[in-house]
Amino acid sequence: MNNPYEPYPVTIKEIKTETADRSLKTFTFAFIHQADEAAFSYRSGQFAMLSVPRVGEIPIGIASASSEKGIVKFTVFKTGKVTTFLHNMKQGDVMGIRGPMGNGFPLEQMTKKNLLIIGGGFAFTTLRSTIITLMQPDVRDQYGTIDVVYGARNPGMLLYQDELDQWCRQPGINMHITVDETDDPDWPHHTGFVPAVAGECAPESTGNSVAIVCGPPVMIKFTRPVLADLGYGDENILMSLENRMKCGIGMCGRCNIGQELVCRDGPVFTLAYLNKTPGEF
Ligand SMILES: Cc1cc2nc3c(=O)[nH]c(=O)nc-3n(C[C@H](O)[C@H](O)[C@H](O)COP(=O)(O)OP(=O)(O)OC[C@H]3O[C@@H](n4cnc5c(N)ncnc54)[C@H](O)[C@@H]3O)c2cc1C
Ligand code: FES
Repeated sequence: MNNPYEPYPVTIKEIKTETADRSLKTFTFAFIHQADEAAFSYRSGQFAMLSVPRVGEIPIGIASASSEKGIVKFTVFKTGKVTTFLHNMKQGDVMGIRGPMGNGFPLEQMTKKNLLIIGGGFAFTTLRSTIITLMQPDVRDQYGTIDVVYGARNPGMLLYQDELDQWCRQPGINMHITVDETDDPDWPHHTGFVPAVAGECAPESTGNSVAIVCGPPVMIKFTRPVLADLGYGDENILMSLENRMKCGIGMCGRCNIGQELVCRDGPVFTLAYLNKTPGEF
């Protein structure tokens, strides 16, 4: 891309309503120009600016994995101007994507390690990308154990339900799914908040373990002491931030945290780094 402010044109190929309350939809885009797909080379944990002409631009984490060829996916929570407009768009509509942006998860530095992935609510989107990447047959053997703790408010709010079922049946990944509450007497997974379920089910750190944590601030707050009890050092805990953004490319200063710009130097940081930054993250 020559001009970093110029989005790649994409078509909406598919729209899937993810949750029972219809507040979350997954948009599958196809690039209009094949060369743009090659230029939009991304890794798990990166984000992009979704650009709706005459409405606005918003940063959204990339939910697909680069192994899913020909498409790129984003899961969007309907909250304000741009996301509401996006939720009303139809298959075949044309819009833009600018990116990929940010650093993503350094998966190549985690080979041979045991991975603990903890997600809550719709912050699970980039973790879908991560799990799909790690479970590729030629990739899976490069890592130790993989445990996933994922929670939502109730069963209807869980994202990617078909894939969750598939991962639950698949060898090589230990899924610990939980909901805050359910009135389903046959609910086959856990009930309880993510930090509590992580405390019960997540493996202790072997000293060769890394935790990736994405979720709402309250989940992160209560997960931190659980990970400390399990022996995960702050340098081995990765978190992804969702600061307010404007340019997405380190030019406007809107997203700073300490000396760093979240859009350019993040959104993925170690907890050890975040502990040194001023204020709440
Ligand atoms: C790196 C990154 C990744 C993100 N990934 C996702 C994702 O995968 N899926 C998703 O649904 N959302 C994601 N978000 C949040 C998303 O960018 C905002 O929800 C979106 O910008 C709201 O746009 P809007 O025009 O609909 O809302 P607006 O009309 O701008 O605002 C509506 C409400 O949302 C609040 N809001 C706006 N931006 C943010 C923000 N960055 N964080 C928290 N609250 C905000 C406003 O204060 C207001 O209350 C991500 C944000 C960042 C920075
Ligand atoms: S959003 Fe402009 S510097 Fe980060």
